[in-house]
Amino acid sequence: MVKGSYELASKLVADMIRDELEKKPNMILGLATGSTPLGVYKELIRLHKEEGVDFSNITTFNLDEYVGLGKDHPQSYYYYMRNILFNHINIREENIFIQDGKAEDFNRECERYDELIKEKGGIDLQILGIGENGHIAFNEPADKLSVGTCIVQLTDSTINVNSRFFDSIEEVPKTAITMGIGSIMQAKKIILMADGEKKADIMKKLLESKYISTDIPASLLLLHQDLTIVLTRSAYKL
Ligand code: GLP
Repeated sequence: MVKGSYELASKLVADMIRDELEKKPNMILGLATGSTPLGVYKELIRLHKEEGVDFSNITTFNLDEYVGLGKDHPQSYYYYMRNILFNHINIREENIFIQDGKAEDFNRECERYDELIKEKGGIDLQILGIGENGHIAFNEPADKLSVGTCIVQLTDSTINVNSRFFDSIEEVPKTAITMGIGSIMQAKKIILMADGEKKADIMKKLLESKYISTDIPASLLLLHQDLTIVLTRSAYKL
């Protein structure tokens, strides 16, 4: 576990991505949305523009997407990724994968996404944020968690938290398509990031807990053999 300022945490994660990229220029990178990784993406852009880091051979898979929001919707995760990262580095369009929020057949879309990840050789490094309720990607606390990519009903708490990005809470989609816990756990390396006081309670629970539980989906990550947790000071209350 590493603690520091948001800037330091972001630089550290970006450096871990850079190290991985040096070892494997065609690495498969799993990406997250939300506020937490913004600093990492900013630093990746800087590394590309100022230090010539080359992203032309990487492939990315995003964790999740809102059901019903197309690529052009400003609140879709596809739109976020374009604006925040992809438009500013030299990644190739054909190497970008995000679930289709407008798919005609969502069962097929879930299968297709998992098959694609496998076909590309699996995720080398997965970046994760955490929800205030312990969700990872959109795997919400529940009795059962899906192994593969699936459709989930968002909890009221997540809808509420994510409404800050929408004009009104009514506009937040109630369903999403997300990589499952199994798809995430198959990543060779995982970095879980947490920033802000709002994450302090869940991080405390997670780090002090001696148990895994589907009530805190992120707790399953504790079983992963190559997990790095990067916390900013505000998210740390142990
Ligand atoms: C969202 C996303 C997650 C993200 C989490 C935390 O709902 N689906 O992938 O990690 O919430 O978001 P933030 O970083 O904005 O706190």
